[in-house]
Amino acid sequence: MSERTVQLGDVIPRPASVRPVTDATFPIVSGTAVSAPPDLERVAAHLGLPRAADGAIRLTLDRELPAEGYRLEITADGVTLAGGAPAGVFWGVQTLRQLGPVLPGGVIEDHPRYPYRGVMLDLARHFFTPDEVKAHIDLLVQFKINHLHLHLTDDQGWRLEIPGWPRLTEVGGGPGTGVDGAGPGFLTCAEYADLVAYAADRFVTVVPEIDMPGHVNAVQVAYPELTADGQPVAPRTDAEVGYSSLVAGKEETYAFVEAVLKTVADLTPGPYLHIGGDECMATPPGDYRAFLERVLPIPAAHGKSVIGWHEIAAVDLPENAIVQFWRIEESDEAVARAAASGRRVIVSPADRTYLDMKYDAGSPLGLDWAGHLTVERAYDWDPAERLPGVGEEAILGVEAPLWSETLRSVDDVRYLTFPRLPAVAEVAWSPRGGRDWASFRERLAAFGPRWTAAGINFHRAPEIDWH
Ligand code: ACM
Repeated sequence: MSERTVQLGDVIPRPASVRPVTDATFPIVSGTAVSAPPDLERVAAHLGLPRAADGAIRLTLDRELPAEGYRLEITADGVTLAGGAPAGVFWGVQTLRQLGPVLPGGVIEDHPRYPYRGVMLDLARHFFTPDEVKAHIDLLVQFKINHLHLHLTDDQGWRLEIPGWPRLTEVGGGPGTGVDGAGPGFLTCAEYADLVAYAADRFVTVVPEIDMPGHVNAVQVAYPELTADGQPVAPRTDAEVGYSSLVAGKEETYAFVEAVLKTVADLTPGPYLHIGGDECMATPPGDYRAFLERVLPIPAAHGKSVIGWHEIAAVDLPENAIVQFWRIEESDEAVARAAASGRRVIVSPADRTYLDMKYDAGSPLGLDWAGHLTVERAYDWDPAERLPGVGEEAILGVEAPLWSETLRSVDDVRYLTFPRLPAVAEVAWSPRGGRDWASFRERLAAFGPRWTAAGINFHRAPEIDWH
């Protein structure tokens, strides 16, 4: 902890309302107990404090509050944390943890701007183990991130077991399938289910992505019958994109897609299936359209809403389809049309949210095709002002993708994630107009000593006066 006294508003993302009370504090000491009704047992467990019926930290539900909202009242006598639903109490617990152990007195009332606050991790270009992904989730929830998008398949590798299609993971998850030429690994169905449950226990929804019809070289290495001429193709672990495609005119394609999406839907309790759809330069436009017209309705047949990268907006979308905008252009007519027809948009402009962009020319990791992404650039923009025709009502939320071409370790993940993720998290959570770079950089500075103490590898961005 820093020398500076913690103020009630020293929280990231910045809460909607903060009313400090001078002088009152409540210190959490060993023996401080928590009381919680049965509905909040699992939330209370995350505090790691003893339990008592009359604990000084009281967790309650208040159905008048928004489901993810909470009210945190700190007095010299104790703490009352009410949430609209268990998720709201859990986010309030994250606020409490950032403020502690000597809690400043006052009242915080808070709720998110957007229901979807996401991070993407690319397991295809470099595999991360279930324990590594779980540790990542633990860090993300501190900033009230509630969706983890897993990019599970790409040209290099295939990282989720699909019963009946064993070569996807025997070959596509085998040795030499990472961009580094190492990277064997895949999630078994049981490991994936366990990861999804771990995330759910922290109010994080896993969004699985099976990228198609492009980004499928690993599929075609494993199953040559899914190529145009049925001939084997060579494995590739370079970082090129846009050279592979499923074949829109072949029935085998749809048997494969049906089987995979059914398996993933069955394994995923969350409401979304992401089918990729990006960078299909090897799919003729008519084939792209024909393929998507068959595939876009499949998630709904399994009770899921389909998400695709914004290229899918080129076709007529099913009613509940969600479009994820990712490029750097300042406008996109197809996305605006989709929004005008009621489709929701996840906003992930690469020049503001792609955590794999270098911080500056000296960054040892990351790419730079969308430019350099400083902490201030990740912070100082508004999702509802980015795309003409895609206003506040059309936006489901904001996601920060982390592609893994240049990543080799968890330390690498953390270096690119911190401190930019807190910036994007505040964009996604805090009220429109309630953000301020000068305040953010002050609040962010306090995380330096905490991350150092916790052994979190982060970039000491020169824009921040780290404590
Ligand atoms: C993407 O970055 N290809 C979605």
